Amino acid sequence: MLPKELIQLKELGKQITILTAWDSISAAIVQEAGADVVLVGDSLAMFIHGHSTTLPVTIEQMLHHTQAVGRGLLRVGNKYPLVICDLPFLSYQCGEDKAVEAAGTLLKNSCATAVKIEGAEPEVLAVIERLIRMGIPVMGHLGLTPQSVNILGYRKQAENKIEQDKLIKQAIEIEKIGCFALVLEHVPSLFANKLSTILKIPVIGIGAGENCDGQVRVTADLLGMTNKQPPFAKPLINLRNQSIEALKGWVRKKKNHVKTPTK
Ligand code: KIV
Repeated sequence: MLPKELIQLKELGKQITILTAWDSISAAIVQEAGADVVLVGDSLAMFIHGHSTTLPVTIEQMLHHTQAVGRGLLRVGNKYPLVICDLPFLSYQCGEDKAVEAAGTLLKNSCATAVKIEGAEPEVLAVIERLIRMGIPVMGHLGLTPQSVNILGYRKQAENKIEQDKLIKQAIEIEKIGCFALVLEHVPSLFANKLSTILKIPVIGIGAGENCDGQVRVTADLLGMTNKQPPFAKPLINLRNQSIEALKGWVRKKKNHVKTPTK
């Protein structure tokens, strides 16, 4: 699927589903579950590498994980499912040339066909415009942007009219310069719904209510794999506890095993 085909899904009124994957096993599971898009999110900094924010992850690590994701995906004919990769902190904030090199490296050496970029400050908009002109599709990300955690914290965004008006203006800019979709994180659901009716490109919510054009989730959150769930991510199962119980049983059984003496 081409990134711009997500716009057609919105036009047809079809909900878009995006799930994260960071390795070949999770990529295969997400593909088999039927998600429209696989997102190699920079949240892997926390979930895989154990950092407390997304900031430390590098472009080399994003490439490494995106290549692993590609190895887990089944190609239909010659085509991969749509894979989008996050551009990590400092790979696009230091100028357009650096951003083209970072995004180009990902697209050249992995199965990703698009990148996601946080924010809509004038410098970021200039980077997005340049990437799109260079043939690199971009998905925007507004609301709670985790790479700005040291300014925003992890709190809900756009809770008042001033912040909402600013975000609407930014989202319209993002659409105008050619992004094919927008992730909207941790904002009031009524506001997210309103924004999705203003924009022609799909608004993909996370912690933004159920009435966006689609939803994105961190797969590990949905599966209950960690003991640190964000307040808006309701797990479908508790895979962490189930795994611990299953493994405890295995350990107990092995500890109780008594070797049979050889004759
Ligand atoms: O990094 C990530 O997993 C993301 C999602 C939370 C949208 O950006």
